[in-house]
Amino acid sequence: MRSLLFVPGDSERKLEKGFAAGADVVIVDLEDSVAPANKLAARAVAASFIAGRRQQAGPIIYVRVNDLSSGLTDADLAALVPVKPDGIMLPKSNCGQDVQQLAAKLRVREAENGLPDGGTRILPIITETAAGVLAAASYAGASTRLAGLTWGAEDLSAAIGARAARDENGRYTDVFRLARAMTILAAGAAEVAAIDTVFPDFRDMAAFETECREAERDGFTGKMAIHPAQVPVINAAFTPSAEAIARSKAVVDAFAAAGNPGVVGIDGKMYDRPHLRLAERLLARAKAAKIPV
Ligand code: COA
Ligand code: MG
Repeated sequence: MRSLLFVPGDSERKLEKGFAAGADVVIVDLEDSVAPANKLAARAVAASFIAGRRQQAGPIIYVRVNDLSSGLTDADLAALVPVKPDGIMLPKSNCGQDVQQLAAKLRVREAENGLPDGGTRILPIITETAAGVLAAASYAGASTRLAGLTWGAEDLSAAIGARAARDENGRYTDVFRLARAMTILAAGAAEVAAIDTVFPDFRDMAAFETECREAERDGFTGKMAIHPAQVPVINAAFTPSAEAIARSKAVVDAFAAAGNPGVVGIDGKMYDRPHLRLAERLLARAKAAKIPV
């Protein structure tokens, strides 16, 4: 999961475009990009579109449902689980228990629809409420359905009354940097993927590229997109380079050749167990991106 592209669930035109954008994951949105008056129509449009795509090769399909306090989640699931999305994105998640609550709902729907128990994954957005940021540690072990953790700045701004999430230089302010960092740490603790949030200024490709590079440097393994043009930039940034793969293979090979010791020297530099773990992680990402290693 390098690139995860949001597509408003009520727009057939955008659904067509979004599924052809080259994203690893398409997130069909029933939440914030759909007006309240359009929720009912969006469920029908999204469900019939996904049903038509299910048999074809294509991106992994997630559906972003409305949050658990909206009163809309059950109807979203009733309409969309029958078309077998690969996963559900849970917005405004407050803690691991919210994921468990969604998991229980999914279990019932899976049974009703003759689907394998536990097959539908869950990707929560964990920083859209103040309580959510503070409970980041609660996702570890919450559910075997957990596919990753991601974060969001817009709803958190609204929740805490921050007028902006970034300063005059475009840098996230402290609360948002904390939310971003908590997501990386919580994903590490839960041993799932850390997915970076969206970049709303979809015409500014230079700033977007920089943000992708920094996210990859800091431990995110993928990023969400709001526009098809962002997808190739994300895929490039989160696909390990040939050079990085060669370096990681050299580390793994050196440990293997030396009989798997605690530490080895390569070209006059020390490499110990954390370097080996990092190299193995990078090679796993390359494999997931279908690059021969
Ligand atoms: N998925 C699929 N297609 C998209 C798309 C998306 N996320 N964003 C844009 N497109 C399509 C447009 O419909 C347009 O197609 P068209 O020429 O056939 O009409 C084409 O790509 C070019 O779009 P562009 O003119 O550059 O942007 P726009 O003004 O039409 O759309 C947004 C801008 C922000 C409204 C649009 O990108 C969007 O809806 N993004 C997703 C929003 C979302 O889901 N938010 C929730 C998560 S934060
Ligand atoms: Mg939102």
